[in-house]
Amino acid sequence: TTRTLFMLPGDGIGPEAMAEVSKLIAYMNSNEDAGFKTEEGLVGGSAYDAHGAAISDEDMDKAMAADAVLFGAVGGPKWDGVDYDVRPEAGLLRLRKDMELFANLRPAICYPALAAASSLKQELIEGLDILIVRELTGGVYFGEPKTITDLGNGQKRAVDSQVYDTYEIERIAGVAFELARTRSNSVCSMEKHNVMKSGVLWKEVVTATHQAKYSDVTLTHMLADAGGMQLVRQPKQFDVIVTDNLFGDMLSDVAAMLTGSLGMLPSASLGAPDAKTGSRKALYEPVHGSAPDIAGQGIANPIAMIASFAMCLRYSFSMISEADRLENAISTVLDKGIRTGDIMAEGCKQVSTSEMGDAIVNA
Ligand code: NAI
Ligand code: MG
Repeated sequence: TTRTLFMLPGDGIGPEAMAEVSKLIAYMNSNEDAGFKTEEGLVGGSAYDAHGAAISDEDMDKAMAADAVLFGAVGGPKWDGVDYDVRPEAGLLRLRKDMELFANLRPAICYPALAAASSLKQELIEGLDILIVRELTGGVYFGEPKTITDLGNGQKRAVDSQVYDTYEIERIAGVAFELARTRSNSVCSMEKHNVMKSGVLWKEVVTATHQAKYSDVTLTHMLADAGGMQLVRQPKQFDVIVTDNLFGDMLSDVAAMLTGSLGMLPSASLGAPDAKTGSRKALYEPVHGSAPDIAGQGIANPIAMIASFAMCLRYSFSMISEADRLENAISTVLDKGIRTGDIMAEGCKQVSTSEMGDAIVNA
C-alpha cells in the first residue's frame, strides 16, 4: 500500500514540530514498510511570503488529493499587518472549508507521569481519556444573518444566527457513535434544548440517529452548561462527548486544561466518507499555535504534533496497533522523566525538541 501524506508545516514552531514527525515516518517506512509517501507544501505566512496567498491553489489541490494532511501551525507578528483574506489563518480556514472538515476531534488524555505533577486533584484526572467531537462547519459561527446594524439612536444591534439542518446533526452524531464503538461505547450529547430551538432539533436528531443505527452504544444527554460543570467536577464519567460548534469550542478548551500543557494536545478534523472508497478527507494538527515567543530556539514540545500523527495512523489508515504503540512511546518517554521546557518538573531531564523526537522514536 501507498499512503499519501501532504505535510504543511507552516510558521514558527510548526516546522520544528513537523520535523520530529518526519523522523517517525522515515523510521516506519524503513523498518515497517509503512509505505508513506510524503509531499510538503506551504501554508500561512510562509505561503504568503512565497506567493501572496495563505495557501496556493496548487497546494490546495494536493491537500484535496492526499489520504491525509498534517498541519503544523500558522501565524506570527511578521504578518500582523497583511490583508484579512490573505492572513495566515485564512490558509487553515480554506483547508477546513474546501475539504468540508465538519468533525473536529479533540482528545483529553492524561498521561500518568503528568497527572502526578498536576496541581489538580489526582483522582480526578488519573487515567482520564475523553474524546470531544465538535461540529466544525455549522452553527452560530457561520449562520446567516450575521450583522451589526446601526439603530440610529446611539444604539447598534449585533446578530449571530445559530443554524443547524438535520443532515449536519446526523453526520456529526454518526461520527461520534462510530468512534464510541472503538472506545468505551458511550456518547454524551450536549446542547441547550431548554432555551434554543437548535438544541431541540439537535437532541431529536441525535436520538433518532442512535435508534436507527447505533442502539448498541450508550447515549446520554446533558445541558451544555451542566456539562461544563461535570467536566470539571467528575471528568472521568465521559467517554465521547458530541456537541455543536460553539459549545464544542468552549468545552474542548476546558477539557484540554485538565490534561496540562498546550504542547501536549493533538486534534483531528474529518470530512464525510467518499461515496466510492469510504475514505474520509482528514487534517491533523496540534491545538497550539506557532508560538513566536519560542520559535527558532529548538525548545518547542513536539508531542502535540506527534500525537496528532498518532491520530492520523488511527483514523485515516486504521493502523491501530501502530497508533497505540506511538501513544505508549510518548507515555514511556514521559515516565522516564524526559521533558521539554513547557512540561518540565522537578527531578526530570530537560531536552530539546529534537531530543524529545529521538526519544519517542527510540521508545
Ligand atoms: P500559541 O499556542 O502559539 O502559544 C501560546 C503559549 O504556549 C506561548 O507561550 C507558547 O510558547 C506556548 N506553546 C505553544 N505551543 C507550545 C509547544 N508546542 N511547546 C512549548 N510551548 C508551547 O498561541 P498564541 O501565542 O496565542 O498565538 C501565536 C500565533 O499562533 C498567533 O499568530 C496566532 O494567530 C497563531 N495561532 C495559530 C493556530 C493554528 O495554526 N492552528 C492556533 C492558535 C494560534
Ligand atoms: Mg478555541
